[in-house]
Amino acid sequence: MPKIDLKTLKNQAKKEIEKSKDLKQLNQVFKKYLDKKGELTRILRSLEKLPRAKKVELGREANQLKNSLRIQFDKKARDLKEKIQKETEEKEWFDITAPGKKPILGHLHPMTLTKRKTEEIFQAMGFSVVEGPEMESEWYDFDALNIPKDHPARDLWDTFYLKNGLVLRTHTTPTDVRYMEKNNPPLKIITIDRCFRHEATDASHETNFYQIDGLMVGKDINVANFKAIIQEFFQRFFEKPIEIRMRPGYFPFVEPGFEVDMACLICGGKGCSACSQSGWMEMMGAGMMHPNVFKNSGLNPKNWQGFAFGMGFDRLTMMKYKIHDIRLFYSGDLRFLQQF
Ligand code: DAH
Repeated sequence: MPKIDLKTLKNQAKKEIEKSKDLKQLNQVFKKYLDKKGELTRILRSLEKLPRAKKVELGREANQLKNSLRIQFDKKARDLKEKIQKETEEKEWFDITAPGKKPILGHLHPMTLTKRKTEEIFQAMGFSVVEGPEMESEWYDFDALNIPKDHPARDLWDTFYLKNGLVLRTHTTPTDVRYMEKNNPPLKIITIDRCFRHEATDASHETNFYQIDGLMVGKDINVANFKAIIQEFFQRFFEKPIEIRMRPGYFPFVEPGFEVDMACLICGGKGCSACSQSGWMEMMGAGMMHPNVFKNSGLNPKNWQGFAFGMGFDRLTMMKYKIHDIRLFYSGDLRFLQQF
């Protein structure tokens, strides 16, 4: 029978508990005395062999000791935890009153904003939004639009000729032909898409830009319908009443063709430097679809008539937000982009 000296054990345990510097050490002390294999547990087990009177007496003492040690452990653990927390708080102090850092959220490009707005306006007037390929055949980009191979009009639309025999489309008008091939009139579509031209870059020209093209075909669609729709569009887009005028203009795929001007947004039509004192701003080309284009799209020109229009979408966006240089759209300059 080992000697049972509760007093020594009590003093020893108490000292070790107090000396523990961290929770790990404290845990080891706990294991040493109070775990299943701990010294005090071992003593409690060994009591069974003692005579009854001794057993009762020592048992009570040992249990008291066990309880008091537990209390000491708990208190020490609490103290240590508090100490750790204090230390980390001091080390990792932060000012809860300081304003938070705003996460940088992405946002839409100004052209995406105007594209969505434009699509919404036309959709509300019953137009469908369609798309065509950026790599286009010469047939769709030129021939089908009544621009034959040797016609000087092709010079207006000089582009990049690809090794695979296709070209980078110079305008979005080919999408009208593609759509008419697959869909029977009456039809109302717009397309806002990327185009390319082989030209020198400056504040109003880019080799890569966007165009909107629109088409409305039916039995008796006429120029008055076009004027009403385009006026309505400008008014909703610029959010104010806008006056427009039409002048004769040449585009091989329409007959008659016209250029559409809008009363200058800056001076309201009085004449200023932005509109070369004319009071008008050139906005788009348009016209009644040429019979040859209907034929090339598989439609009988005797049965159908309709208008088409096209305009530089970058230019429209530049007017909306008063941006002076088209190159800003493609510069990736955050100082510019973050203003929208
Ligand atoms: N596609 C022409 C261009 O790039 C613009 C244009 C003019 C489109 C008249 C049309 C139109 O649909 O009817 O210059």
